[in-house]
Amino acid sequence: MAKHTVVTMPGDGIGNQVLPEALRVLKAVGFDAEYIHADIGWECWCRQGNALPERTVDLLAKHKLGLFGAITSKPKKQAEAELAPELRGKGHSYFSPIVTMRQRFHLDTCIRPCISFPGNPLNFIRKKTDGGFEEPLVNVVVFRQNTEGLYAGVEWTNPPEQVRAALATHSKFKAFTSVPGLDLAISVRIITRQAARKICQAAFEWAKKYGYKSVTICEKPNVLRETSGMMEDEAKAVAKEYRGITLRSTNIDAQTMWLTKNPEDYGVVVASNLFGDVISDAFAGLIGGLGFAASGNIGDEVAVFEPTHGSAPKYAELNPPIVNPIAMFLSAVMMLEHVGEVEKARRIREAIAAVIKEGKVRTYDMMRISGGAKAISQGAASTVQMTDEVLAKLARLSALAETHAELAEVGRK
Ligand code: NAI
Ligand code: MG
Repeated sequence: MAKHTVVTMPGDGIGNQVLPEALRVLKAVGFDAEYIHADIGWECWCRQGNALPERTVDLLAKHKLGLFGAITSKPKKQAEAELAPELRGKGHSYFSPIVTMRQRFHLDTCIRPCISFPGNPLNFIRKKTDGGFEEPLVNVVVFRQNTEGLYAGVEWTNPPEQVRAALATHSKFKAFTSVPGLDLAISVRIITRQAARKICQAAFEWAKKYGYKSVTICEKPNVLRETSGMMEDEAKAVAKEYRGITLRSTNIDAQTMWLTKNPEDYGVVVASNLFGDVISDAFAGLIGGLGFAASGNIGDEVAVFEPTHGSAPKYAELNPPIVNPIAMFLSAVMMLEHVGEVEKARRIREAIAAVIKEGKVRTYDMMRISGGAKAISQGAASTVQMTDEVLAKLARLSALAETHAELAEVGRK
């Protein structure tokens, strides 16, 4: 029997291109796992009226470890229009399956590392006064509360009378009391103290474990006094338990500006759900963008790892596939670390770093050319060629390690 069982959910579009490549890499480092395929995404919605089928939920509940590609989500009206005719009008309503999965399994801690690889042509650079440039390396890990906040899913257009009545007890709602129901959309931002405390604790623990000097709470407590206020209060309370790690506080809007000024000054960043989603994409832009942005959704029992990019439908049908599989590889690396296979994780990261540094094999996004069928003829590597190069580097690095070990052995004799 294999040591690990991983539920693999390629999902839609390019999820189906990058996830199988990650499995090749995991195999190459000898990860002892059985993989069980599970469906998720747009096709499931259209055919079954449920983007997260019960079988997938059951498999995750049983095996507790998932590797996810990407899904396609579409706005409410489009979702209704694409549902199989026989399912229409039967009370099915579309909700993002990844958001549902995070809530269902209490995957409340989302970790999104944004760490630059030296030599990546997409790295952030800064102009110097002498006309040259410098390339500060970014080493940020974003902790995003993953189940609450504005993504809690409590929302209405045309809210029920009881909701309007409850809101009318707040003086600020007076400005909206005369708005007709159908013209009134409300999404509720819910933060609980327990969840706020937990994400801040996870952020500080990470900072302590990996030697980061600061944790930045990135909210907007001057305006969102209650919800962001609670996040900030909890960050301050947790910070007291971690001597030697500085707590910094920034506003989400200002932070998106500052991060292009001095990104090397940030370490761990913690935020509520939407702000964490935003700020992690912003930091990811400094280390190469979506082709490099990995994430882990961690709960007390279940953990699911995924690149932060979506299904990129415009590239999904290209043959050969051209998208960058590195974000998916790095998600698999996070999974390895989560299950304690740190040595295998380290080897993959080292091989990726070597491929990037050498710069001979680059997917289209690393070349600043447009994606599309022409990318390959313009010198871009395909998704599979990028994987092949990472595999070749892995083999070379382990051959080198063996030679070193043999030489050391000879030296001892
Ligand atoms: P996207 O992430 O699919 O694509 C955004 C841009 O980045 C596109 O130009 C795409 O070509 C490029 N890109 C994405 N991944 C790449 C990769 N691995 N290598 C190279 N280039 C890459 O986001 P978009 O276009 O906004 O959404 C497409 C669909 O994906 C939508 O239905 C959206 O709802 C869904 N989505 C799903 C997510 C998930 O599964 N977690 C996250 C974000 C979007
Ligand atoms: Mg996002």
